Amino acid sequence: MPSELSFSNRHKDLAARDREYVLGWRFNPGIVFERGEGVRLFDVDGNAYYDMSAGMMSLTLGHAHPELVEVIRDMADRFTHQSSWYTNPWAIEFAELIATTMPGELKMTNFAVTGSEANEIAMRMALAATDGFDICSMVRGLHGGSLAAESMTSVGGARRRGLGPLTLPARANCIVPAFYYRAPIDDAEQWDEVSLQLTEELIEYTTSQQVAALMLEPIAVPGGMIVPSKRWLRGIREIADRWGALLIFDECQLAPARTGKFWSFEHYDVVPDIVTFGKGMTAGFANCGAITTPEIAEKTRGALGLPWSGTYPQDPLPCAVGLKQLEIVLRDDLTGHAEREGVFIGERLSQIQARHDCIGDVRGKGLYRMLDIVKDRASKEPDAQMAEHIRFHALAEGLLLIAVKNYVRFCPPTIVTRAELDDILGRLEAAITRAEAGGPVATDIAASSSLAANSAAR
Ligand SMILES: Cc1ncc(COP(=O)(O)O)c(C=O)c1O
Repeated sequence: MPSELSFSNRHKDLAARDREYVLGWRFNPGIVFERGEGVRLFDVDGNAYYDMSAGMMSLTLGHAHPELVEVIRDMADRFTHQSSWYTNPWAIEFAELIATTMPGELKMTNFAVTGSEANEIAMRMALAATDGFDICSMVRGLHGGSLAAESMTSVGGARRRGLGPLTLPARANCIVPAFYYRAPIDDAEQWDEVSLQLTEELIEYTTSQQVAALMLEPIAVPGGMIVPSKRWLRGIREIADRWGALLIFDECQLAPARTGKFWSFEHYDVVPDIVTFGKGMTAGFANCGAITTPEIAEKTRGALGLPWSGTYPQDPLPCAVGLKQLEIVLRDDLTGHAEREGVFIGERLSQIQARHDCIGDVRGKGLYRMLDIVKDRASKEPDAQMAEHIRFHALAEGLLLIAVKNYVRFCPPTIVTRAELDDILGRLEAAITRAEAGGPVATDIAASSSLAANSAAR
């Protein structure tokens, strides 16, 4: 692991060429990676870093898992891509296995390439199944960057600036979140009641009153790891039912296993009508989807471009990899592992919080946590600069973290061991100590992410 950030000339040259030829968001410093193994990444100088974002929250089994490598090799030889108007054994078995993890009648998967596309399929399904007009999403929710998904997204609102007619009216974002830490009322039970009342009021007065769906992340991650109570999520189910609307849960950030339940909504005893998945279900290949009941699937067949097809969904290679990953997640009980290790990191993160005033709150479940970085605990004023400094110093401690706005994410691959977590937590605390001491940083919050750009982080 690097103790200070210094890079070879080759490394610097690659970073400079990246800046010149590749148009992309880059955290500073522009590290160029060339290899991954388990929970670690290696840069082109051979420095190792714990990958605390599991790729883009996608590598449930970490990098280069031997059983997945074997499948990739086999499929590369055999069958990688086909017409999406035909099928293959791996897509069928993957969908069948997903269905065994689901409650009730949720058993039919319409595959997609990205999480955004999966959410747009879900939205099409809701419009087609209900004849409704409005789709209500949650304030501080995120559902992707394609244009309809972006319209449902409110975290990083500045991303929508200037998109004008390409997005739907902002009234779509009308579910008031159960964000207890920054709620105007201290009592969580009371805030549940008030936020549900406000939600219903906003639906009544800002929509056409023909509501097709309520769409939200059961635990809203990019918006600040908002973990609602059971009472609140049940309240949302009841509101959807009262309005004759479908309930869509976006599990892209959360499934499988990471939160200590296979699907995060299992923490809540609430069954939705449509579930979308991506990231962690994909093993890093672009293979996402929307799952619904046969009844809804039949109602929507042939309407609004459904079932969704496109060029790449349900391709044999990504389906075979997703299938193998899912078999391993179930075989090795990674859900139980995340639950157990979640107790361990929960305790350790609370101890770290007690020693560092900049950590206002720690939220999350299982192996997915978030530090809410503040200027001081009394005002809870978000401190995006400090979060960015922690991220920067963490690199020198050999930890690759995502920090967006004032939120520092803790999301290792789900296979992470106790010994690795112990080491990671020590490095995290060392990074926080360095950041608090005001060590120099060569980074700029505005360059850190499209969600943080143009916005005074909150
Ligand atoms: C909750 C949630 N839904 C959907 C998406 C969009 O997924 P994708 O980037 O694959 O389109 C994201 C991406 O970060 C997400 O966090």
